[in-house]
Amino acid sequence: MRQVLSGLIDLAARPQQRPQEGPQGQTLNRQLYNELRGAILNGALAPGRRLPSSRELARQLELSRNTVSGVIDQLAMEGYLQVAQGRRPVVAAARPALLRGKPAASGASRAPPLSHWAKRLQKAHWPAVDEGPPRPFQPGLGDAREFPHELWARCLRRAARMAPRRGTQAVNSPPLQAALLKYLVEHRGVRAEARQVIVVPSAQAAIELIARVVLNANDLAWLESPGYSGAAAALEAAGARIVGVPLDASGITIGDRSERPRLIFVTPSHQYPTGRLMPVSRRHELLAFAERAGAIIVEDDYDSEFHYEGRPVAALQGLDESGGVFYVGTFSKSTFADIRLGYVVVPEAYVEIFERAQRHSGQLAALPVQDALAEFIDDGHFAAHIRKMTRLYGERRDRLAHVLKAAAGDFLSVAPPSGGMQLLAYLPRHLDDRDVACRLQHAGITVRSLSHHFTGRIADRGLFLGFAAWNDVEIDTGADMMREALRRLLR
Ligand SMILES: Cc1ncc(COP(=O)(O)O)c(C=O)c1O
Repeated sequence: MRQVLSGLIDLAARPQQRPQEGPQGQTLNRQLYNELRGAILNGALAPGRRLPSSRELARQLELSRNTVSGVIDQLAMEGYLQVAQGRRPVVAAARPALLRGKPAASGASRAPPLSHWAKRLQKAHWPAVDEGPPRPFQPGLGDAREFPHELWARCLRRAARMAPRRGTQAVNSPPLQAALLKYLVEHRGVRAEARQVIVVPSAQAAIELIARVVLNANDLAWLESPGYSGAAAALEAAGARIVGVPLDASGITIGDRSERPRLIFVTPSHQYPTGRLMPVSRRHELLAFAERAGAIIVEDDYDSEFHYEGRPVAALQGLDESGGVFYVGTFSKSTFADIRLGYVVVPEAYVEIFERAQRHSGQLAALPVQDALAEFIDDGHFAAHIRKMTRLYGERRDRLAHVLKAAAGDFLSVAPPSGGMQLLAYLPRHLDDRDVACRLQHAGITVRSLSHHFTGRIADRGLFLGFAAWNDVEIDTGADMMREALRRLLR
């Protein structure tokens, strides 16, 4: 067809043969449309140029008259051609602005218009973008290779088949709300009704949604320092004033602070990134302070599924009597990162506004995937996977701690955590951990600096390493590479 059309364009050639099939299965209609539109956009068919009549074009191209007329009508409707009864179509004088074709030249000078929100987002130091496939010891990852993908596929297939029969307009899948609540009550001491369980695509989405629902611009938000930068980014983007609150051995310090934050973000079961546990006395102190100050608490329980020494302490949410705690969790650690499912248990008074906010912002998780996860939990696959991975991750934690001590124990002080998927290795204060992390990155090892997690004063230096996603060989090889890189660095 292209040949025929270029013939048409230089008015010389005649059709050689009728096209049988368009490129990549395009219909003849679509092919003709694309060729004519392309020729108009690139100027080969200049404005004012008359085309042959649709009858003549159909004859030349050996296409049906209907096909050709349909394409001409379409191009006329979009403004590329002008048609009039009894006259041959003519290429329009001005090309439609929106379809003017080529993308803007590279280096276009105009800065794209951005909202205050987007500008705040541009300045946030999060997320860290790790290019290429993950490599040791990138924190935050579980080992997706160990997940029972076949069982999961069965649940997904069944849920997909059930979809036409669901007949609800629910935002959150009731079976998943019930399954999750049962798990959270049993394992985390959460106290709630199923309707308070809101399912979102990630814990980050939950934090983002809480920020939108609870915060106004310039509201004060407290964050543990060091703490989770993803939360800082979400709260900052919502316009909050972030104050980093230092930690002691029991977690966030309250003391006699007189500020009245509107939101307090904490990771009490396994402080991120230090791994500290907030004891019950500090929990009560925090709850009492929040109630006095009129603050809501966001409890991020991101990796409590994995605990290696006894049972984990129950959630702060279960101690709350005032309805001021949002309990956030994620499946991206306990199953595999790409599952994109997280949740937040909201206080009773927030259920309706959260469902509205979900619909409004589109922070919805696919219902068939939610249903599949409900079945995966109800059939015991989730609990079995957690048991298996707890054993495996516990061994990997011990192995990484051991090989790091052997490889770099002179200057790394390794603190194996009682749970979770990453460990912190403290560095002597005089070493710049950002610089060390950067040099390790060049040497093929991904770690995060502890400094990166502070808001305000940097009180400690260290490296934050994930151990869960790597098998024994990967851990050993990674530790060797680290030893070499650190040796060169400290020489
Ligand atoms: C402390 C903490 N909270 C929340 C999250 C976010 O989890 P998600 O992947 O579900 O957004 C992460 C992710 O690494 C995390 O480390």
